[in-house]
Amino acid sequence: MSDLTRKEFLKLSSAAAAAGAMASTGLGSVARAKSSDLLHRKIHSTGEMIPAVGLGTAMTFGDLSEDFNQRKNAIAALFREGATVIDTSPTYSDAEQVVGRALDELGMRDQCFLATKISIQGKQAGIDQNNKSFEDLRTNKMELLQVHNLRDTEAHLDTINGLRDEDKVKYVGITHFRDSQNEEAAKVIENNKIDFIQCHYNLLNQSIENRVLPAAREHGVAVMVNVPFARGRLFGPTAGAGLDIPEWAKDFGVDSWGKFFLKYILGHEDVTVIIPGTINDYHVVDNVGALRGRLPSQAERKRMVDFITNL
Ligand SMILES: NC(=O)c1ccc[n+]([C@@H]2O[C@H](COP(=O)([O-])OP(=O)(O)OC[C@H]3O[C@@H](n4cnc5c(N)ncnc54)[C@H](OP(=O)(O)O)[C@@H]3O)[C@@H](O)[C@H]2O)c1
Repeated sequence: MSDLTRKEFLKLSSAAAAAGAMASTGLGSVARAKSSDLLHRKIHSTGEMIPAVGLGTAMTFGDLSEDFNQRKNAIAALFREGATVIDTSPTYSDAEQVVGRALDELGMRDQCFLATKISIQGKQAGIDQNNKSFEDLRTNKMELLQVHNLRDTEAHLDTINGLRDEDKVKYVGITHFRDSQNEEAAKVIENNKIDFIQCHYNLLNQSIENRVLPAAREHGVAVMVNVPFARGRLFGPTAGAGLDIPEWAKDFGVDSWGKFFLKYILGHEDVTVIIPGTINDYHVVDNVGALRGRLPSQAERKRMVDFITNL
């Protein structure tokens, strides 16, 4: 369902390749140079700025029986393009091991904004699970630790706040991806001090606009968007059907369906960062590319919704 061919990818990434060839000090210096071109958004609780597109690892990233180098290349592309955020979970098969090993081999742990989750019932079970996450991710500090899908929220928020006090975690968060959990998520934002909410938002589903985004705005909570492509479903009737990008979307820098979907999300100013999932380096390049050029206006965003709804 890719809308970006290998040939297009090679063209897109030629600038990065040239920069890589010129760089004398490795991936880190290339990443820093490219990062300044990208749209960054602020984490309200500290003022830290992060590139507003990263990488998710839920679907096929954690299959250790599959090609590790393909996943490592996807992570290398993320940094080469100047982005930094990776979201994973102990429940995404072996994704934490894959991410930990890739960051280690690439020497990019310090450049990475690493987010994972506690995803189990029971406080002690959560602590045990998280100890293994530190091991698998080969790190002694996480930028963001989240309660996954609001499972045993109170117990795990207590654990995560404790880790923050010990300086092992920088930011505290919660996640969910179901309309039925919007109300509960908004209440957690209102009744606790958290830094991040991770939730679903895409051209097929804007339900978080009603309660979650206003609560996040009011309480200064950063918003990490998951399932930006509706788990890939958005590509079916568009790229998958060979549909051309509408001319009017080219006005705001859209040259692929991936960018069409991501620029729609970035057009909402409450969104801090999006974490599209992929194991393909050329899709990482495409996705991070959404951080260049202007964003759609509110009228253009409305047009995007109408266009997709009427397919
Ligand atoms: N409750 C939670 O905490 C929760 C729930 C769901 C997701 N998440 C997080 O959010 C991340 C994103 O969600 P997701 O991975 O489930 O779904 P998604 O990002 O909406 O869609 C992923 C799909 O899009 C394809 N894709 C990615 N970039 C593309 C591009 N530029 N062009 C064409 N196809 C592209 C991928 O295929 P290829 O691999 O072939 O590129 C994959 O099939 C997850 O990986 C996970 O980290 C968290």
